[in-house]
This record gives sequence, C-alpha cells and structure tokens, in this order.
Amino acid sequence: MLQYPPEPFRIKVVERIKIPTMTEREQLLQKAFYNVFNIPAEKVYIDLLTDSGTGAMSDNQWAGLQVGDEAYACCRNWYHFEDTIRELTGLKIVVPVHQGRVAENLLFTALDTLGKIVINNNHFDTTRANVLAHGGIPLDLVIPEGRDILCDHPFKGNMDVERLEQTIREHGPEKIALVMLTITNNSGGGQPVSMSNIRAVKEVVSRYGIPLFFDACRFAENAYFIKLREPGYATKSVRGIAREMFSYVDGCTMSAKKDGLANIGGFLALNDEQLAERIKTELVRIEGFLTYGGLAGRDLEAVTRGLVEVLDDEYLEYRIKQVQYLGELLLANAVPILRPTGGHAVYLDARRFAPHVPPEQFPGQAIVVELYRRAAVRAVEVGSFMFNQTDPVTGEALHPPMELVRLAIPRRVYTETHLRYVAEAVIALYQDRNSIRGMRIIGHGNSSLRHFVAQLTYVE
Ligand SMILES: Cc1ncc(COP(=O)(O)O)c(C=O)c1O
Repeated sequence: MLQYPPEPFRIKVVERIKIPTMTEREQLLQKAFYNVFNIPAEKVYIDLLTDSGTGAMSDNQWAGLQVGDEAYACCRNWYHFEDTIRELTGLKIVVPVHQGRVAENLLFTALDTLGKIVINNNHFDTTRANVLAHGGIPLDLVIPEGRDILCDHPFKGNMDVERLEQTIREHGPEKIALVMLTITNNSGGGQPVSMSNIRAVKEVVSRYGIPLFFDACRFAENAYFIKLREPGYATKSVRGIAREMFSYVDGCTMSAKKDGLANIGGFLALNDEQLAERIKTELVRIEGFLTYGGLAGRDLEAVTRGLVEVLDDEYLEYRIKQVQYLGELLLANAVPILRPTGGHAVYLDARRFAPHVPPEQFPGQAIVVELYRRAAVRAVEVGSFMFNQTDPVTGEALHPPMELVRLAIPRRVYTETHLRYVAEAVIALYQDRNSIRGMRIIGHGNSSLRHFVAQLTYVE
C-alpha cells in the first residue's frame, strides 16, 4: 500500500469546515433538486466537485497579489505574465482571459469551424459546447484503451493516430478545423498523453496543414506522468518536458484554475499572427483590453507565480501520489474505479458500482447524491447526465461509453485524514450499494451543459 506522500509545504492559514446534520443535508438535497451544484459550499464538508479554481495559493502567490498593478493598460504584471508563458511554451503570442472556456470561445470564433470537424482525444464539456456553438462537429478519437475502464495502459489519454489519419483522409483536410489534445484527458479520467503520441499526432497534422492545439489545463501533471512512465524522461526536469510538449503545438487554450495554481485566470497562446489578430479583436469586445483580458493585475501575478511553482518536481510527485493514495484505498476495498488513477481525480466506475441502475437513470448522479447525503462529500457525475447527446436520426438518448463519478482533488487543500474520510464514505456506500436508487430529470434537461442546471428526482 502506497504511503501518503509527505507534503512539500506547511499550513499557514486554516479555514473552518463543518459537517451539516443528516436532516439538514436531506433538506438541502431536496431544495437543490438533487443537483449538488445547487448546494451551498458552506454545507459541504469535503468538496471534490472540481479541482478547478479550488486550490490553495502559496505565500508567494498571496504576496504577488500585493504587487498587483491595476492600471488599465500595460500593467507590470502583464509583462511578467506574458514573458513567463512565452518562456514556458515557446509560443509567441499570449492572450489573457479570465478562464479556460473564454479561450475556447475566442478560438472557435476566430477559426472557421462552421460545418467543420474539431478532433480531440476527448473534448471536455465546455470545449464540446463551444465547438457546437460555432457550428463545428466535435469528434473524440482517444485510443480504444482510453475507453476501457480496467485497462492499465500508462497513457490512456493518447489519440488514436491511425483513426486520426483515416478521418482526415475520409473528410479531406479542408474539413478539419483543428486537432486538439487535452492534457491530461479530463473526460477520459485525467489520463496523460505521452510525448511520442504528441509527436505522432503532430507529424500527421503537419502533413495535412492542420493546426494542433493543446487544451493545456493540466500540462504540468501530464509532464510529470511522462517523467514517471515514458522511457527516456526519468532524469529530465518537468519544466524541460513541458517545454518539449509545447514545442510540437501551434497553440494552446489554458485554464489557469488548474495547473496555474490560481483561483481564476487563463490564456490562449499561439504563433499564427492572423488568427491572433481575430482573437484579439474579439477579446476586446467580450473580455477586456489585450493586457488584462478580464483579470485584475493581481490575478495576472498570481497565475504567473503559479505557473512557475507548478513545475516543481517535488510538488508534482506529492500531487500525483496523493491522488493515487485515494485510489488505492478504494481499490483495497474492491470499490470499482477507473484505472490507473489520473492526475487530478479518482473516478468511480458507476456502471459497476451500481449495476442495478441503468444509464438512463443516471447511476453516477445517484452515487453523487448519496455521497452528499451520507457524508457531506461533494463529487460530480461524468456520464449520461453530463453528456446530453441524442441520436440525430432517432432522437433517442445516446449514452457515453463510461458512467463515472469524479472525485476531483483540489491542489494543496486536503490532508491524508480528509482523504481517508472520503474513502471510508465511498467504501461504506459501496457496501450498501443496493440501496442506491435511479434518478430522472424533471427540469432544465435540454441545456447543452445540463448537469450544471438540471433538476432531478427519484424514479418511482
Ligand atoms: C480539460 C478542460 N478544458 C477546459 C476547461 C474549462 O476551463 P474553465 O473552467 O476555466 O472555463 C476545463 C475546466 O474544468 C477542463 O478541465
């Protein structure tokens, strides 16, 4: 059994958290229409809803807030931000945004995506929604192992390079607006993409003149997995590995709420000047001036310092092992999880966890609700409830290949005891799994991002 990794930091500020009573939790669930996005955060004991924007900043980042320059244009933090991202990615043009989905919106507005295909290993939900909103067709081409919950492949986020080439040939390169690699692959279990896969994808798209972008939210965790698992990288620094990863792409979208170790922020970085001009015009219209993009000067500084801190090998070792530790506690008690554990979360396999609840009754969501009810732990469903897709011909609901519950671990926030508490709650629920009941949607079910807003009740 893996030992809990010693934290490479100590705690300077604490935040009180409380477990609401069982009666309170039951009332809150009813009031929230069994959608945990509607539960007040103060009524959650351990919040594993997301690792996005929920991390703890360091003393160095907090100090950075104090040197925020709040000039409207060309504040000093912008130059620090721009230089750091250029140095990290080797990409020439940096566009600040307040979070990742704005970067996606700007990119798909500026690219001509109408009627064209956007290929990804797996589109994250906001990326998919942005592609669709701009008339594009999102296509997921992760390797088959990436859809197999039990397969222990070291790089389950890899793209199926053969299918990529087939798809380009079948439709013609002019029909492919963009190829993206989401690192790590959040919707596929936080699984990494190998350097050799990045290189192979680059080789194919270059032959057809198609741009390659990263959805780079968790680039540092991805780089650390390469160091751990890919031959030839064990002695390289994560910074060097990250730089090599970025050297193969034409650009990236980034939510700094993950590996920027900040509570808000993001950017687009790219080399294509014409594309960048279109993006910048749109940026000024919807987000803010070119040197702040919806962020305060102090936020730019926090992100900049976070992007440097995140590439500390000792931090990344602790981070990846912390997630693995929770996964191993569950596996030791036969709880079905997606294997191997990913970079930022442990994913429960809802199909095997609650096999008596069919996909149309959202087994993952039923588990999420039960975890809150029993332990005030908040998780998120990543399955039929999140991915609202229907067959274009028959109109029938299409179910994704995996029904998952994501236990996302905020960075530098929870201790070993907190994770043990979570593991005990999940194990107890698994042992009582026959009591889990299916659910149905009773409101706001048609939104493309319905898991944020839909209302549910139990199936009779
Ligand atoms: C892979 C991936 N892409 C894009 C986003 C969107 O980023 P944001 O929440 O900052 O808009 C997320 C957020 O969780 C993500 O995980």
